[in-house]
Amino acid sequence: SPAEENECNRNFPEWACQRKAKLEHLNKKLTSAVEVLQEFAELRDSNQDYSRALAFRRASSVLKSLPFQVQNVEQLKGLKDIGEHVKTVISDVLDHGSSSEVEEILKSEWFKKMKLFTSVFGIGPSTAKAWIERGWENLDDAQKDGCPSGDWRIAWGLAFFEDLNVPVGRIEAIAFSQIVQEEAECILPGVITTLVGGFRRGKSQGHDVDILLSHPTDGAEMGLLPKLIAALGKRGLVLIGHKEKNSFRSDILYQDFKLSARGQLDHFEKWLGICKFPKSFSTPKISKKSKPEINQPTPCTTDTDLKATADSSLDESMNELYEPKAKKTKGSEAIELEPNRISAAPRDWLARRVDLIIAPKSQYYYALVGWTGSKHFNRDARLYAQKKLGLKLTSHGLFNLEKREPLTAQSEEEVFSHLKLPYIDPADRNC
Ligand code: GTP
Ligand code: MN
Ligand code: MN
Repeated sequence: SPAEENECNRNFPEWACQRKAKLEHLNKKLTSAVEVLQEFAELRDSNQDYSRALAFRRASSVLKSLPFQVQNVEQLKGLKDIGEHVKTVISDVLDHGSSSEVEEILKSEWFKKMKLFTSVFGIGPSTAKAWIERGWENLDDAQKDGCPSGDWRIAWGLAFFEDLNVPVGRIEAIAFSQIVQEEAECILPGVITTLVGGFRRGKSQGHDVDILLSHPTDGAEMGLLPKLIAALGKRGLVLIGHKEKNSFRSDILYQDFKLSARGQLDHFEKWLGICKFPKSFSTPKISKKSKPEINQPTPCTTDTDLKATADSSLDESMNELYEPKAKKTKGSEAIELEPNRISAAPRDWLARRVDLIIAPKSQYYYALVGWTGSKHFNRDARLYAQKKLGLKLTSHGLFNLEKREPLTAQSEEEVFSHLKLPYIDPADRNC
């Protein structure tokens, strides 16, 4: 009833991180319209401020958490994140089935090109804009140019564009993370492997596979990542990728708020890359014969010669194995040729984006929250922590910048309680 709805709106929690937002909600038609406006603003204002995009994002986040289906804009009375612009769009959708503003955006050549270009791994809005300015219409134009920036992500992102734009299924993601778990366990017994990102929030598909690794003993995780990549490489699962060293420094965090912020980015050791998922990953065998095999311990590919590469010499040898040969020659031609040759060859695997993140146990539960997302959940929780509690929330911890001390957590629940927030299940963080 209208009275109940008004009551609900009055008590509606101000922050997205205080609300439950499931994947399946009651106002999808409205949120998808508002999200087009958000996406358009985000692409257009990429080098300025995101405030317009953010306003749309907040509005769609509210719609996702509403306990009723909106049939009339009157029902939105009292909800502070639903402004006049959004109300107009919602009325249009409710009255005519679509919003003319949204339809215009979807039809616009600029938007279509921006969407296409930014869907390439390694391409953000500013590069996409530069491509449009050069008069490029499609990905062939970019291919012809041969990745002038020399960025490996763009070269491989273009070469495997089709594969990478087929959504990763949940079954594949689980199959891959089980292999990661097995290999990591051989290298570092007791390792904790968690499938994070959208899959942890219950999504059935994603644009990549995000895996967070840790170990009950703080510091034991050091040295795991290079060995893990080598082991996955030995199993023929690695196509290309790049390691980032851990760059977390608490002294910098406390000294310089701005320097330590870096937006969404964190300072964990990680590997961002493209893996080869055998096609069998997405069609797991269901024959009785294959069943016991799953339960049997899988032989490790880790052996003594692999262990021998565990020290400093490893970084060099790894780069040779898993980065384009062009890295050495520096010629942009070679960077372009290598991925294209591989992508053109007949193959029984799909290229898939994979993020592997290593977190020490002392930061693990914050990393878990950060890497589970959603992106908007994180952004909102960080803003809430700053504005409401005067604390700095990152994927590394929750910090009191004045007292110069972290609030440590031994569980995800403890992260929420430090934040004075009700615990929200990962499936309810789809805001
Ligand atoms: P799909 O992969 O499209 O299904 O969505 P997703 O929610 O998994 O997004 P994505 O893989 O981009 O990121 C997973 C979560 O990790 C999101 O909440 C991001 O905000 C977060 N994330 C991504 N990259 C970084 C990063 O470099 N640092 C931190 N701290 N978080 C990140
Ligand atoms: Mn993801
Ligand atoms: Mn990711």
